[in-house]
Amino acid sequence: MPPAEFPRDFVWGAATAAYQIEGAWNEDGKGPSIWDTFSHTPGNVVNEDTGDVACDHYHRYQQDVGIMQELGLNAYRFSISWPRVLPTGSGRPNPQGLDFYKRLVDALLAADIQPWATLYHWDLPQELQDRGGWSNRDTVKRFGEYAHVVARELTDGIDRWITHNEPWVVAFIGHLFGQHAPGIRDMRIALQVSHDLLLSHAEAMEAIRGESDERDRIGITLNLQPVHPQSDTQADEEAARRTDGFSNRWFLDPLYKGAYPEDMLEAFGDDAPEVQQGDLERISSPMDFLGVNYYTRTIVRADPDSPVGMAQVQAEGRPRTEMGWEVYPEGLHELLTRLHRDYRPPAIYITENGAAYDDVVTDGEVHDPQRRDYIHQHLLQAHRAIEEGVPLGGYFCWSLLDNFEWSFGYTKRFGLTYVDYYAQERIIKDSGRWYASVTRENSVES
Ligand code: FCB
Repeated sequence: MPPAEFPRDFVWGAATAAYQIEGAWNEDGKGPSIWDTFSHTPGNVVNEDTGDVACDHYHRYQQDVGIMQELGLNAYRFSISWPRVLPTGSGRPNPQGLDFYKRLVDALLAADIQPWATLYHWDLPQELQDRGGWSNRDTVKRFGEYAHVVARELTDGIDRWITHNEPWVVAFIGHLFGQHAPGIRDMRIALQVSHDLLLSHAEAMEAIRGESDERDRIGITLNLQPVHPQSDTQADEEAARRTDGFSNRWFLDPLYKGAYPEDMLEAFGDDAPEVQQGDLERISSPMDFLGVNYYTRTIVRADPDSPVGMAQVQAEGRPRTEMGWEVYPEGLHELLTRLHRDYRPPAIYITENGAAYDDVVTDGEVHDPQRRDYIHQHLLQAHRAIEEGVPLGGYFCWSLLDNFEWSFGYTKRFGLTYVDYYAQERIIKDSGRWYASVTRENSVES
C-alpha cells in the first residue's frame, strides 16, 4: 500500500498547557490561579503533586523549542496563563508575564514554528474565583479585557487563537464532579458556568478581531466523542442520545446553531442556565475553525438505579491506555465526519490526541511502541476523513512533554518527550522520533 499522504499545507504540531508545564508559579509577578490553590490543598491531586515547578518550561523554553525542531513541528499549541499576564485577573498587565510569551513566540518564529495560543486552559486568576469565578457574569467581561491585552501585545507574532480549551471539562469536572479546580459540586452552577464560558468565548473573539488583521484565525477547542449505546434497545439508544446531548451537543449547538438543544433544556429543567437576550447570537457568530480534542469514545446503557438513569460501560477485550481509556481510533473518523455533516465548520483541527503509557527509561532511551501505534492508527482515521471531504487542516499531538496531568499529578505520561522531573532532563521517546519522520514526510504508512 502506498503511504497515506496528507495535504500539502497540513499543520503538524504538539500541544501543551501553561499550568501543566511552566512551573514558576509565583515568579516575576504572576498571581495565583485556581489550580495553584487547588493543588496546594491536600487531597485534590495524587501524591499531593503541584504545578509549582512542573517541566520548568518557564526557564527552559528555549531548549523545548529545540525539541520541537527535532520533532519537525511546523506548529506549537500552548496556553497563556491569565494570572501571569493579569495577576488579579484585571487591571494593569504584568510586563514580565507578557515578556515571557513574547520571548517564547520569538523563539518559535525563529524556528519556523507557527504559534497557536489558547487563552484559557483552566488557570483562572484566584481573585476572580473569590468573586464567584465563571458563574459570575462579570468574569466574562474580564476575559474579554484579558483577550484584548494579549491580542494587542502579541498579535504581531500570533495569528492562531483558541479562546477556550474544553469548556465541558471546566464546567462539569470543575463545578459538578469537583475533581478539578475550583472543586465545586453543583449542577446549577456548572450549567451557568458552561453558558458563561461560551459567552466569554464570544467576548474574546470580538476583542481579538478588534486587534487583528486578515491573517488571524480564531476558534474554540471542544472535547468531543462518539457516544454508543451498549445495545440497540430503545432504552440504551435513548441513554446514548442523552449523553451525546450532554457531552457534545450542549456546546456544539449554541456555537453552530445559536440554540441550546431542546431535549437537554428539558432534561436540565430548573438547573438550566440564565441566558440573556442577545447571548446566543453572539455565541453563534462564525468562527474560523473548530478545535477537536479526541481520546476515546463513550459507551452507555440505561440504568434505572442511577440518579441520571444511565451508566457508562467499558468495552470488553479492547486495548486501553494508562488512563483506562479504550483505544478506539475509528471513533475519530466517526466524529470528524459527523461534525462535518451536522455543523459544517469551515475548518477543523485536531488540537489534542495522544495516549498515556507507563514509560521507562532504558539506557537513556524510551521505547513506547504502543504510543506510536496509537498515534499512527488515529492519523490513518484522520486521513480517511480528509479523503471523504472533511476540511481537516492539522493535527496536534498531546503532548510535547510529559507533564502535570491535573488530578493525576505526575503519574500519567502523555509526552512525545520523556521528562525526568528531578533532573529536569528531556529524552525524546521512540514515538517522538517516529512522529518526526511523519511530520517531515507529511505521510504515514498505510
Ligand atoms: C485534555 C486536556 C489536557 C490533557 C489531556 C490528557 O482533557 O485538555 O490538558 O490533560 O486531556
